[in-house]
Amino acid sequence: MKALIINCSPVRDGATAEITSIISDELSQKYETKQVCIDDYDIAFCKGCRSCHNTAKCVMTDGVQQLMAEFEAADVIICASPSYWADVPGQFKVFIDRCTPYSNTHEPHARLSKGKKGYAVVLRTGPNMKECERLIQTIEHFYGHLEIECCGHIGLCSIENREAVIPRTSELTEFCKEI
Ligand SMILES: Cc1cc2nc3c(=O)[nH]c(=O)nc-3n(C[C@H](O)[C@H](O)[C@H](O)COP(=O)(O)O)c2cc1C
Repeated sequence: MKALIINCSPVRDGATAEITSIISDELSQKYETKQVCIDDYDIAFCKGCRSCHNTAKCVMTDGVQQLMAEFEAADVIICASPSYWADVPGQFKVFIDRCTPYSNTHEPHARLSKGKKGYAVVLRTGPNMKECERLIQTIEHFYGHLEIECCGHIGLCSIENREAVIPRTSELTEFCKEI
């Protein structure tokens, strides 16, 4: 079984990267794990042309197809995202927009293989969990339209940088036990 763990932050060595490493180490006992960063992929803005509503294909070819190939190869998908202005970082949002060919809101649409499980991990500097819930909703809404089963989520407040992740390791290892 394969687990894909995505650092949805554009920062390759920040707090989210520390979290994805902890999750990857934990899951590697049970899964073949792969960590990627949204910044590994060259992804253009969605033009909103809606061609994909009729063709189930995007008019552009770039990193989206590469990242979707990773989704297809995985049994478990974990999106880990920091809050940027109380939402997911723009780079990740652009990827979500570009996944419209896969959205089950129109026919025809592209499809991932069935049976994939999705998890959301979110973090922020501020102390209030409500903002984390907003990001979790964004990720789970995305999973829902790709027919990836939403199987669990965790929100971590008060995380400004990677040093602040270390004392939270036990929360993450507990979360991983359910995956
Ligand atoms: C552009 C930007 C916007 C941010 N906006 C918020 C915010 O609205 N709320 C919050 O709690 N933290 C916010 N943060 C803090 C990040 O969520 C926090 O520092 C996180 O640990 C960054 O993870 P990263 O280093 O992996 O990107 C913001 C950080 C940046 C760089």
